[in-house]
Amino acid sequence: MSNEKQTPKAEQASAEPSPFLSSPLPEGTPQGQQQTLKEITQETAIPYYNLPRGAGRDDYVGETTHFGFSTISTKDKEQKVAHVFHSVAKKYDLMNDLMSFGIHRLWKRFAIQMSGVRKGQHVLDIAGGTGDLAKVFSREVGPSGRVVLSDINESMLNVGRDRLIDAGCGNVDYVLANAESLEPFADNSFDLVTISFGLRNVTDKDAALDAMYRVLKPGGRLLILEFSKPVFEPFSKLYDLYSFTALPVMGKIIANDAESYKYLAESIRMHPDQRTLKGMMENAQFQNCDYHNLTGGIVAVHRGFKV
Ligand SMILES: C[S@@+](CC[C@H](N)C(=O)[O-])C[C@H]1O[C@@H](n2cnc3c(N)ncnc32)[C@H](O)[C@@H]1O
Repeated sequence: MSNEKQTPKAEQASAEPSPFLSSPLPEGTPQGQQQTLKEITQETAIPYYNLPRGAGRDDYVGETTHFGFSTISTKDKEQKVAHVFHSVAKKYDLMNDLMSFGIHRLWKRFAIQMSGVRKGQHVLDIAGGTGDLAKVFSREVGPSGRVVLSDINESMLNVGRDRLIDAGCGNVDYVLANAESLEPFADNSFDLVTISFGLRNVTDKDAALDAMYRVLKPGGRLLILEFSKPVFEPFSKLYDLYSFTALPVMGKIIANDAESYKYLAESIRMHPDQRTLKGMMENAQFQNCDYHNLTGGIVAVHRGFKV
């Protein structure tokens, strides 16, 4: 893990191998321990991060993809997303509260209510970052249940792991994994799979939905909490103004990183709207798919079942 302070907690957290892993965890230099500098674009040189197995594929989505409003080489996207979240990890929770005026907590609470999670269940939170959902799921499933907090980014996962261990969550595993493959996890393992504000960062969303379907048990459900398309046009204009002006300024002041928050605003606009995402879930074989708009469609919770 990335610094000495965290080692004892890491040992404490990984005393038992996770019952969900289909194979040993990937090895290699963690993210945040940069190896070489790589020219990612003409203008910026960003560090090169090692990513979990299954990352860096361009076999499905073609040679180019979007990163916010920019078109970039597909193989560079995960590096650039990794850089964003490595850069913001320590200030992520504070920024979330400030940017959403605390409303993200209500969105998450709604998603948790829709999850129908019960004692003894097995839950996977993908792109779980600093662990807001996993912390609640840990309490809800109780000692007989198990929660996996998973993320592609070690900096984010470190913050989440420290936070949840401090909160006494003893039934949580912490696993680096790419949502596109969920390679460490065996088929039919989880009663509930969630991804909150993570899917829009994933390069190949169809592959990610297929992987989520694979790891769900029959009868299990998927919940996707994500920014979406506001339903009321005048509100949409105001929201654009806020996102493209205020967010980068707040990012600069709080996290000393305007670019990452510019990416946040752009990536929200590039994400599939409510109906498109529902169709993508159906293509991945999910049944009885539906969605609920929150705060006028700024955010939506999509739900689907593996039958
Ligand atoms: C905006 S944060 C959301 C964190 C948390 N789920 C929440 O709701 O606060 C997005 C997270 O997605 C993760 N992420 C981005 N691409 C990913 C991928 N391909 N696989 C898994 N996680 C990914 C990032 O590392 C980051 O932690």
